[in-house]
Amino acid sequence: MTEILPESTRRFTRASIAEPDDVLREMEERGEEFPTVGREVGQFLRLLARMVDARRVFEFGSGFGYSAYWFAGALPEDGQVVLTEHDPDELDEAREYLDRGGFADRAAFEEGDALDTVQGYDGPFDVVLIDHQKRRYPEALAEVREKVAPGGVVVADNAMVSGAQDFDGILDALEGGAPDLDEESRGIAEYLTTVRDDPEFETSVVPLGEGIAVSYRR
Ligand SMILES: C[S@@+](CC[C@H](N)C(=O)[O-])C[C@H]1O[C@@H](n2cnc3c(N)ncnc32)[C@H](O)[C@@H]1O
Repeated sequence: MTEILPESTRRFTRASIAEPDDVLREMEERGEEFPTVGREVGQFLRLLARMVDARRVFEFGSGFGYSAYWFAGALPEDGQVVLTEHDPDELDEAREYLDRGGFADRAAFEEGDALDTVQGYDGPFDVVLIDHQKRRYPEALAEVREKVAPGGVVVADNAMVSGAQDFDGILDALEGGAPDLDEESRGIAEYLTTVRDDPEFETSVVPLGEGIAVSYRR
């Protein structure tokens, strides 16, 4: 994970979080070779879900279920988190982890392209997490926009950094420039400017993990 906070600040945010359960800790070990949202963002997502009394959560890109596990812990017994993943092995692992946490009955495991899967769901969703291909973030927002409940939130991970993402170029685009961006960075820049300028949403970027854009649906 590319860190955006100074080390002491990152340690501070980490040390302020209660120790997660055994399954999450095991998932974090597994996540050392896989791009999960990380503990600070995971806790923030759970908190967000609690704050909006979330019953239904939709994820674009679930991997082996780390972020979904954080969400599941905030849902009522009849709540649901929809996991989407095009890698069946990742999804099998997610099923196993959520089952071990006692959350399997609060999860729907959808194999395939998340952009197709979302079309099969009516919403409303109280929380949406966008964490799949960066170049397709704008497409995901367009697909899910009308399915976000008023008072619900959309969170986009990697709003600030991710691998080779062009931080300065994205910043330039946000400040009104017209930089020549690679496909992934263009996806993030377009997502951030679109949601920022959408009168239906209010957005802040929170510099936890690799940066999350949190957008409240009016
Ligand atoms: C960054 S990881 C997700 C991590 C997860 N949200 C977490 O924090 O545990 C992105 C995942 O999205 C999957 N993915 C990418 N594009 C997808 C798509 N269009 N539909 C479904 N899954 C996709 C990848 O296979 C990968 O496992």
